[in-house]
Amino acid sequence: MNLTIQQAGIQTVAAEAIIINLFQGVTSPGGATGVVDKALGGAISDLIESGDLRGKAGETAVLYPRGAIPARRVIVVGLGKQDEFGPEAVREAAAVAIKQAKKLGATSIASIIHGGGIGGLEIGEATQAVVEGSLLALYNYDAPRSKKKAADEEQAIESLTLVEFDETKIAVVEAGARAGQIIADSVYLARDLVNRPGNVLTPTALAEAARAMCTEVGLTCRVLEEADMAAQQMNALLAVSKGSAEPAKFIVMEHLPRSDAQPIVLIGKGVTYDTGGYWIKPNPSQDGMHTDMAGAAAVIGAMRAVKLLDLPLNVIGLVPSAENMISDKAYKSNDVYIAKNGVSIEIISTDAEGRLLLADALCYAADLNPAVVIDVATLTGGKIVALGQRLSALFSNDDALAEALFAAGRRVNEPMWRMPLDPGFDRQLKSEIADVKNSGGREGHAIVGARFLSNFVGEWAWAHLDIAGDETYSGGKTQTPRSYMTKGATGTPLRALVECLRRWG
Ligand code: BES
Ligand code: MN
Ligand code: ZN
Repeated sequence: MNLTIQQAGIQTVAAEAIIINLFQGVTSPGGATGVVDKALGGAISDLIESGDLRGKAGETAVLYPRGAIPARRVIVVGLGKQDEFGPEAVREAAAVAIKQAKKLGATSIASIIHGGGIGGLEIGEATQAVVEGSLLALYNYDAPRSKKKAADEEQAIESLTLVEFDETKIAVVEAGARAGQIIADSVYLARDLVNRPGNVLTPTALAEAARAMCTEVGLTCRVLEEADMAAQQMNALLAVSKGSAEPAKFIVMEHLPRSDAQPIVLIGKGVTYDTGGYWIKPNPSQDGMHTDMAGAAAVIGAMRAVKLLDLPLNVIGLVPSAENMISDKAYKSNDVYIAKNGVSIEIISTDAEGRLLLADALCYAADLNPAVVIDVATLTGGKIVALGQRLSALFSNDDALAEALFAAGRRVNEPMWRMPLDPGFDRQLKSEIADVKNSGGREGHAIVGARFLSNFVGEWAWAHLDIAGDETYSGGKTQTPRSYMTKGATGTPLRALVECLRRWG
């Protein structure tokens, strides 16, 4: 879809549908909506007066100008209450309106920038939110099907034009639209990776996708093979992969524009399928475990955005990737493996595999002399029990880093909740035959996972995001309804990571 900016009054634009808006409770519309209302002889005011249009969030009305203005259709979208308004309301309204336009078969769409005028938002931020909401709502996973589904038959939207009347704002609008497009496209990539089935998206395929992305945008990419990992004593990671015919991969993506700064390292868990190993996940809890690389997908997508947004930060993305399977070679309970930093680990549960990948990745990060390390992982079912599918669990040894991530998550509506890194939980990980166990039972499960990881963390600021359950969206009652989420992968917490990095320092 072609995204453009036009300096004009929306009432002059010839599109198959133009999108304008209305705050809840407004009786005589102003701004662009007021201008269109006048051109239509008060038709919008009539709708409001008759109670057919209230401006509630999620509401739309469609009008047919029949030549009064060049547009074929007018879609009025509700912005909800003015005192609850912000970028999230803009993303929602943009998503609702564009889905309505698509359903009507409109292929060319023009929209005003919700919140840029009467809403009082900074115009660049408002533009970014309109673009993100619109594009994220239109995401569609291109599944292989012999027969097309009805949704695939719908007319694709060919163009979206954002219309701004004030000439002095155009440059900022263009910058906001570009940022929104970069972020949305990066979320598309992350969602595609998460949605791909496990037989297709193996560690090898994940590494190839990361490499292709890096080539596309000009990032440096390196992929360590199993022999390279063995040479670096990454035995915890390799242990997980032993039962699989698919070789493990360790992906390194570098954005190093500065010579004078320690890097920020992002790590994403890349388990392309988690059967549980010999602690095999019973039916039906294996279902969906091809999404156990959602942390990796978010990091790969975030690296893309970091590069294209040209952030003046050194950022390195690490993805340890393996498949957790069973075979006569697979790792077993009570095996002991020694991680890259020399810490010995007694395997209790072969289903606590993600932390083994992260352990060696954290050790690898230590060699990069990082200022900050943030890992992202679908780590524990315990996280879903504790915080549901509404909040990602945030653990950190650094209050400023925790605060920055928390604030970023809140702004982009990928909310997080801080959890304790209480050393009291370490007792659950005591082993008779090694430095630590990889699992300490179900009590405080997500916390124990984070405590395990802290054995591999150095003297740097570190945050661990347990995103179990947040990687997919079903529209069910355990999740906050969001119009720009589509069924399947969410891309979470890519937008929060990028938001945090854009506001760094
Ligand atoms: N990938 C799972 C966690 C998970 C569960 C993510 C459900 C998304 C939805 C992880 O590898 C796992 O199996 N964790 C175990 C840990 C336990 C054995 C310590 C769990 O959650 O039971
Ligand atoms: Mn597991
Ligand atoms: Zn897992």
